[in-house]
This record gives sequence, structure tokens and C-alpha cells, in this order.
Amino acid sequence: MSGEPNVIGEILVTSRSLAEYQAMFGLSDADLRASILDCPAGAAGFVAEINSRGGDALACDPVYAERDPAETTALALSDIDRANQYLRSHADQYAWTFFTDPDHHRQSRSEAARRFGTDIAAHPARYIAAALPSLPFADASFDLVLSSHFLFSYADRFDLNFHLRAILELIRVSRREVRIFPLTPMGAPHTYRELPALIDSLTNAGITTAIKDVDYEFQRFGTQMLVCTREVMTD
Ligand SMILES: C[S@@+](CC[C@H](N)C(=O)[O-])C[C@H]1O[C@@H](n2cnc3c(N)ncnc32)[C@H](O)[C@@H]1O
Repeated sequence: MSGEPNVIGEILVTSRSLAEYQAMFGLSDADLRASILDCPAGAAGFVAEINSRGGDALACDPVYAERDPAETTALALSDIDRANQYLRSHADQYAWTFFTDPDHHRQSRSEAARRFGTDIAAHPARYIAAALPSLPFADASFDLVLSSHFLFSYADRFDLNFHLRAILELIRVSRREVRIFPLTPMGAPHTYRELPALIDSLTNAGITTAIKDVDYEFQRFGTQMLVCTREVMTD
């Protein structure tokens, strides 16, 4: 495996807002009008907020198969506490710009979790149970696929081959573009060590990649996303 330490325990089921997604992925107004897959979405409020603005976004995550909406929301709220305790005791690993302090983090994430909980109960079809590296969607189903805080973040337990298969699957279901953020394993002061090998394999598979800076930093050094594109599909 990667040699990265497991700093957090079980994979967190996190709750981020549309504002946080916009910053993490550098989303433009045109991006927000695209059909979007959030994979994995966890208990983010992103899909709820996009759809309430008239947009078209779908969430997928394996947790939706394991728990019902109320249980998923309860897990998300308890994971906000778990993450909040971690960042209070490792405050030097975080930049306090997007969030002013740990209380602000808890408040923002709790609002997103509540928005998620209301939306998944009202619109369960927007929340698809699925796990990488195999998604239940046809080829080229979404204009834009977003993937945050799963790939690279948990490099302590998922190897290079898993990352490659997962990204190829995200690309398969996208029509245009996949964005992955951040490039840093959790708790690590460096980018994913296998990134050059991964990019080589993607290039060999005909995928164009670019590493782009974004105007967001929470986990220190996590200021870049990987953008993967392939030739535009024609009908
Ligand atoms: C930290 S959350 C990320 C949620 C959101 N994208 C964000 O940035 O906050 C990580 C998610 O990965 C999900 N997960 C775990 N194993 C997975 C797999 N094999 N494929 C896809 N998602 C997985 C977990 O259920 C969890 O909700």
C-alpha cells in the first residue's frame, strides 16, 4: 500500500455545501447548469442546493445502501463531530480561510447535513447507492462528474490500481469532464505519491489530464484538482 498513515479511522461521511463545492472545484455558472454527478457525495448539501436552483445533479455513494435516509443523516452529524474533533487537535494541518474557526466549520457542515437529510427524504431518486470502481450508469450519462475527498484522500487503504479503475469509471460515465479534489491524502503534507504513475496510465488510455489550482484551501496543501477530459462524445 502507500505507506500513508490512517489518521481518521473509518472513512468520513461528510457534508459540504454548494459554496464549498464551488470553491473546491472552481465551478462556473455554466458548470452549474450542466448535468452533474457527485461521486461520492456522502451527505453533501450540494445536490439539494443545485436542484433547488433548477439545476440537474445526482448523488451516488455506497452509504445509501447501508443506511436509510434518517440513519445516513445521523451518521453525517456524528461524523461532523468526529472531523471537528480531529481538526481541533490538528489545527496546524488546516488553513482557516474558508472557515474562520472550528465552530464555523461545525455550523456550515451541520447546515449542509440538514439540507441533505431533507432532500434525500423528499427526493430519494436523486441519491443512488453505488460504489467505485463500478457505477450503475450508462456511458456518457453526465456532462460533469465531481469527486471529492475520497480518491487520494484515503490513499492509506486504496492502492494505485483502485484509483486508476475508479477514475476510468468516472470518465466512462462522463460526457465531458471529471474533476477530482484534493490531490493530498488526509493528514499528509504532499500530493498523492502515485499521481505521476496514475497520470501516465490515464494518458496511455487516451485521457487528457491537467492539474489546476483552485481558490480554496482547508486541508493544508490541498489547493489543486485533477481535471480529466476525453474527446467530446457525438451522438
Ligand atoms: C469524505 S466523504 C466525501 C463526500 C463529499 N464528496 C465531500 O467532499 O465532502 C467520502 C465518501 O466516500 C464514500 N465511499 C466509501 N467507499 C467508497 C467506494 N468504494 N466508492 C465510492 N465512495 C465510497 C463514503 O461512503 C463517504 O461518504
